[in-house]
Amino acid sequence: MQTRSEGLASDNTAGCETVSVMARFVPGAASVMRGVASLLLVVTAAGCRQDMHDQPSYSALEKSSFFPDGSSARPPVAGTVARGQLRDDALLYTGKQGEEQAAVFPFPIDEQVMARGRERFDIYCSPCHSRTGEGNGMIVERGFTRPPTLIHQRYRDLPPGHFFEIITNGFGAMPDHAAQIEPADRWAIIAYIRALQLAGGATIDDVPPAERGRLGQ
Ligand code: HEC
Repeated sequence: MQTRSEGLASDNTAGCETVSVMARFVPGAASVMRGVASLLLVVTAAGCRQDMHDQPSYSALEKSSFFPDGSSARPPVAGTVARGQLRDDALLYTGKQGEEQAAVFPFPIDEQVMARGRERFDIYCSPCHSRTGEGNGMIVERGFTRPPTLIHQRYRDLPPGHFFEIITNGFGAMPDHAAQIEPADRWAIIAYIRALQLAGGATIDDVPPAERGRLGQ
């Protein structure tokens, strides 16, 4: 299939060929005609160099004298929201209920969310916090500041919104993770930290009898 630009290019070429073919036949005529023909050829040949890459359109961020603000890019209409970017769920996107750090999760935590949280935690947090949350991750073993033990009572008492805040904005030596981890995944990670906290303080009585065999008890 021929695209639109290919079509235009070959139309142009066809035009150029017609002119040069005409010029080839004209030399048989008077020398005046020959002069006119070669002039015509020069003029139209120059016209043939209408490269597709050299267009009168603006490149990104190019300035323009047409608009009063000097920019060729037009700002979106005030109040424009890109599809999927409405972010009207304050709890989900800010981790807050009013001004307070949220004490609840914005969606139910099921097995799927927990599995996602575990996967994300292991990727993004465990290099420092370790897979159990105790804080002796691989980077720490190699000299990075040791983070606090997340399974400590102090962190069990903190609301989920506090963890959302730390993941989003970082904390002291810990870099923020807003760019790497989208909001829903931050909540999934927090749910998994809750599971680590539960596991960290658990006794054999917390394990269902049917599962104890798997622990070698
Ligand atoms: C590069 C290493 C590193 C990574 C990756 C990292 N942290 Fe941290 N984290 C730290 C350090 C170090 C501290 C202690 C910071 C300080 O006290 O200056 C900390 C502190 C924390 C705290 C305690 C904040 C408080 O209120 O005391 C939480 C909660 C936390 N991190 C959660 C996470 C989660 C969740 C992730 C993964 C999304 C993560 N961290 C990824 C290094 C890291």
